[in-house]
Amino acid sequence: MSFDRDRLHLAIQKSGRLADQSRQLLKDAGLKLQQGGRNELAARAENFPLDLMLVRDDDIPTFVADGVCELGIVGQNVLDEYALGRPELRIEQVAKLGFGRCSLKIAAPDSLGRFELAMLQGQRIATSYPRLLGRFLADNRIAAEVVTMRGAVELAPRLGIAGFVCDLVSTGATLDANGLMPVADVFDSEAVLIRTPRPLDAAHAEKAAALLTRIDGVIATAESKYIVLNAPESALPAIVQILPGAEAPTVIPLIGREGQVAVQAVCQESVFWETLERLKAAGASAILVMPIEKMML
Ligand code: PRP
Ligand code: ZN
Repeated sequence: MSFDRDRLHLAIQKSGRLADQSRQLLKDAGLKLQQGGRNELAARAENFPLDLMLVRDDDIPTFVADGVCELGIVGQNVLDEYALGRPELRIEQVAKLGFGRCSLKIAAPDSLGRFELAMLQGQRIATSYPRLLGRFLADNRIAAEVVTMRGAVELAPRLGIAGFVCDLVSTGATLDANGLMPVADVFDSEAVLIRTPRPLDAAHAEKAAALLTRIDGVIATAESKYIVLNAPESALPAIVQILPGAEAPTVIPLIGREGQVAVQAVCQESVFWETLERLKAAGASAILVMPIEKMML
């Protein structure tokens, strides 16, 4: 596949924690993505003027900063680590995507026992995120030596390279497997959509806007539910208060049931069992909660 300047380019992680969910987000946005072989570094959307660049996550901010890709999906951790080193660049964070949640944590060998931040004074800490860690240490007035490693950070204590590590933790399995325990939170992260600081020409800007509208719709739909319920008219003020994130619900009279109405609303926040219990207590009955397939705001 050749590089076609007229198309939009979106950088995503080729393989790793964010790869599958980045593709899924685009599929949910209606894009048909070409499969491509294992060694393929690009994938074309068949029904949208977009090509995916499949790269290492650490390279995504560079591609987007340089304008090789107009857009990218990357962890906030990778973005901010890059941005701290290039403060003159303003890569715009367009949207939080709600997946790939993890946090950058300092961890110590299980044998350490009790921990307090002051114990980091004068210690060596191994990490792939020297700038985020450096900022945390400076904020907390800790003078420690940061040892930068590209990977396998968790091995550092056993190898005697550093007493502590600072690495991403999502399930915690990697720390566990290496006899380490988290002791301090440095940075909370999730996947974000980013846009190049380079100005886009009108054609690219229009394509980017169309894609962003679809992605916004997917994000909004993920949590949104359609709620239908019956209620006495007198209970409406209380019920509308309880409906999470609902604007201007529809109220319809119920034929043959004096004083009773049906209420329909899009709730743009999570609807929990507790929400339903509160609705029932406020007088609602026959409550239905339905998924929303697609939404364009
Ligand atoms: C991070 C980190 C650990 C792993 C932790 O790597 O370096 O290896 O995830 O996950 P866990 O808590 O679920 O075990 P990442 O996926 O960011 O890959 P990369 O460092 O190679 O980019
Ligand atoms: Zn990486």
